[in-house]
Amino acid sequence: MKFDKPKIKKILAGIIDSDDIININHFDKEIIIDINSTNPTLKHKKELENKILEDLNKNYSKDFTYKLNINVVKPTISQNVNRLENIKNIIAVSSAKGGVGKSTLTANIACSLKKMGFKVGVLDADIYGPSMHIMFDLVGSKPLAVNVDGKSKMSPIESYGIKVLSIGFFTNMDQAVVWRGPMASKALNQLIFDADWGNLDFLLVDLPPGTGDIHLSIMQKISINGALIISTPQIVALADARKGVSMYQQDNINIPVLGIVENMAYYQTENDNVKHYIFGKDGAKNLAEDFKIPFLGEIPIIQQIRESADVGRPIAADDDSDVALIYNEITKKMIKFLVERNKNLPPTEILKIKTMAGCQ
Ligand SMILES: Nc1ncnc2c1ncn2[C@@H]1O[C@H](COP(=O)(O)OP(=O)(O)OP(=O)(O)O)[C@@H](O)[C@H]1O
Ligand SMILES: [Mg+2]
Repeated sequence: MKFDKPKIKKILAGIIDSDDIININHFDKEIIIDINSTNPTLKHKKELENKILEDLNKNYSKDFTYKLNINVVKPTISQNVNRLENIKNIIAVSSAKGGVGKSTLTANIACSLKKMGFKVGVLDADIYGPSMHIMFDLVGSKPLAVNVDGKSKMSPIESYGIKVLSIGFFTNMDQAVVWRGPMASKALNQLIFDADWGNLDFLLVDLPPGTGDIHLSIMQKISINGALIISTPQIVALADARKGVSMYQQDNINIPVLGIVENMAYYQTENDNVKHYIFGKDGAKNLAEDFKIPFLGEIPIIQQIRESADVGRPIAADDDSDVALIYNEITKKMIKFLVERNKNLPPTEILKIKTMAGCQ
């Protein structure tokens, strides 16, 4: 059978990071692939073998044997400096659970920071479910290319004075992004490094739900000063928020959590003075106490917050409505803990783990 290396490499590209491929050998009816992996488990090896075989079978008739050799390597932490040296602070906004208000918080904190006079950028790292293009009223906008030192770069699009980049600029609203890990990671790379962010005081990174590939990918690429965790007071949300906190606190990750925000803390109608704790009371506050992490504040369920997100004008972009004030206060507290963090701790080291994308 006629195998060729570039084609096999291409087949592997959707499954294995190209840096992890050590060797591809092929003979008349045999393919041998050697790779590096940090995951020593047999389960992982089996999953990879099956995925690769499935894709090889799509490209070649089944009359061949194939062998995968895994060289297990240790994850190490590098002393790399942040490659985004014009950005003073990078903050990740996360919660392991979906739909608890990460993106809304990111957009509003960005606006509060901007109103305080900071230069702010927002990176929508939710490759599979972007929302920043909607929340900043940029649906249909396309970043322009600019020339920076002879290299062509994307210019983030400004909205309310905030520089925004999102995969949502490159897909249409109904289009699902169906990519394996390495492709998503590549797209993320471009949004981070092929962009002309200029000088920023803050880059806020809106993360997808979970603690997966994209999170690792981000932590491998840039030095994150600190993370914000957002949760509703609900038990299932808190359980996920705990996972989020413990991800950042893992020994080999070690990103300071600047604080926890409780979203959708209660509901209050205009006519009564009673706070209805629909999802339970003080859950995120208690979580913050458990982990000895600052509690940054609670945000009630407010129709205007949802409406302003939907029409693409974060409520904190407006001057000092009562709701904007809530976000301003949370932002001030975040800055306080960030200043302390920057004073007392060295820059976060970039995580150096080679992940085997496509395998959970
Ligand atoms: N405090 C709030 N009051 C009312 N609506 C809110 C509030 N916070 C967020 N929302 C609404 O809840 C929905 C989910 O919020 P958002 O998209 O920010 O969550 P997310 O955690 O980023 O979700 P995903 O995990 O899908 O990325 C949105 O419609 C948003 O407008
Ligand atoms: Mg989101």
